[in-house]
Amino acid sequence: MQKLGLSALPVALSALTSVLIVKVALGVLLEYGNYFPPDFQSDFLRGREAYFWGGYQWAFYFHLISGPASLLLGTILVSDWFRSRVPMWHRRLGRFQVANILLLVAPSGLYMSWYADTGAIAGAGLGTLAIATAACAGLGWRAAVTRRFAIHRRWMLRTFILLCSAVVIRMIGGLATVLEFDAVWLYPASCWVSWLLPVLVFESWQFLEPRKGVSSSPVPKVT
Ligand code: HEM
Repeated sequence: MQKLGLSALPVALSALTSVLIVKVALGVLLEYGNYFPPDFQSDFLRGREAYFWGGYQWAFYFHLISGPASLLLGTILVSDWFRSRVPMWHRRLGRFQVANILLLVAPSGLYMSWYADTGAIAGAGLGTLAIATAACAGLGWRAAVTRRFAIHRRWMLRTFILLCSAVVIRMIGGLATVLEFDAVWLYPASCWVSWLLPVLVFESWQFLEPRKGVSSSPVPKVT
């Protein structure tokens, strides 16, 4: 009975994570009313009119579309169930996801980080996140094309964890609102903690878990 309880934990955690991701992505879609056309009285756009109509608008709108898409695609792509049943679709969506991250999500996030709310500390956190996400996606893609699948899996899990910072940062903000906690340092701190903490947990788990089939040498191609 206890064994069943423990083995059900990862399934319950993945289900909970997926629900949170879908909730955040839907929440973002509901905010679109404030962005098309831009409402400079809305929470996010307040005070941004001075620079919005330059390059920012392009980064912003590309980000609004590519960000939620990357989150939903990531949820599908990390599923072992999906990959084992429809490997061809895993490959197709995976290529699209890497292009989406490298060409849209990360560059637009990097550009927008220059104008981050509350200033340089928040901006540096989000800028570093953009570079880390692009690097992980690129390394994951390279591992896949050289058929180092265990390594590919780890880089892509890192990429997904980094994308999920968009969920974590909104959870921190939501919790602070519920607790009526307001501090000037909260947002800048969230811009770092929302991705560094999950990555740290992942790396610790990887370190503690015995290595299974991880090899840096390519898997010979079966012809
Ligand atoms: C590489 C990962 C990402 C980086 C570096 C990044 C960066 C940023 C930056 C710098 C901002 C502006 C923040 C500010 O001015 O204070 C922003 C806003 C935004 N991001 Fe991302 N982002 C990433 C991933 C995502 C994902 C996966 C989503 C999907 C939900 C997303 C959705 C949004 C939305 C909707 C906004 C506009 C503000 C809002 O309505 O909350 N981002 N992002």
